[in-house]
Amino acid sequence: MTTPPARPVPANAYGDDVERVLVTEDELHTRIQQMADKVSAKFGDEDDDIILIGVLKGAVFFITDFARALTIPSQMEFMAVSSYGNQTSSSGVVRILKDLDRDITGRNVIIVEDIIDSGLTLSWLIKNLKNRGPKSLGVVALLRKPDAVKTKLDLELQDLGFDLPNEFVVGYGLDFAERYRDLPFVGVLRPSVYR
Ligand code: PRP
Repeated sequence: MTTPPARPVPANAYGDDVERVLVTEDELHTRIQQMADKVSAKFGDEDDDIILIGVLKGAVFFITDFARALTIPSQMEFMAVSSYGNQTSSSGVVRILKDLDRDITGRNVIIVEDIIDSGLTLSWLIKNLKNRGPKSLGVVALLRKPDAVKTKLDLELQDLGFDLPNEFVVGYGLDFAERYRDLPFVGVLRPSVYR
């Protein structure tokens, strides 16, 4: 997948804080519909509703749009996790701040992740959820940074939206100090904002 070209920044609530757009609102929704169509086709004959699992907070926009793009019933579950300090998080140790509200044993489960950066969150999550005995466990990720391409997560990825360059991206769930999540597109934050 090639990196999309930069496009002009639409008027938005954050003035000119976003330097350029990497994925437009239209591109996000077109791709999410394609990803949802694949999942709808795959699980169309199942008796049980599929369970979508999102990790707070970044995945909120993706999971809600993804669920509405499906043509099969889905149920949503959320987890909140926190990495330990830098040193520990490099080993992939994650603390659960909010766990699932229900048992996923014997269910078809899909992790709906907004971005894979180092890949640590997703690697940990896959291992943790596999231990709970789901009937199947899939992963759809909307965005991926270059570092993650090197991880073996590829084997677990059912579908990926877009590969991104190694830049500070915000929007569509991605934040800087909790801001910019509400932008409808994914863009590069102007360095003067975070330096
Ligand atoms: C972000 C993002 C992913 C994770 C990816 O969450 O939503 O869950 O980082 O990074 P990794 O591949 O290096 O593990 P973050 O911890 O920033 O919390 P947030 O979703 O609340 O912004």
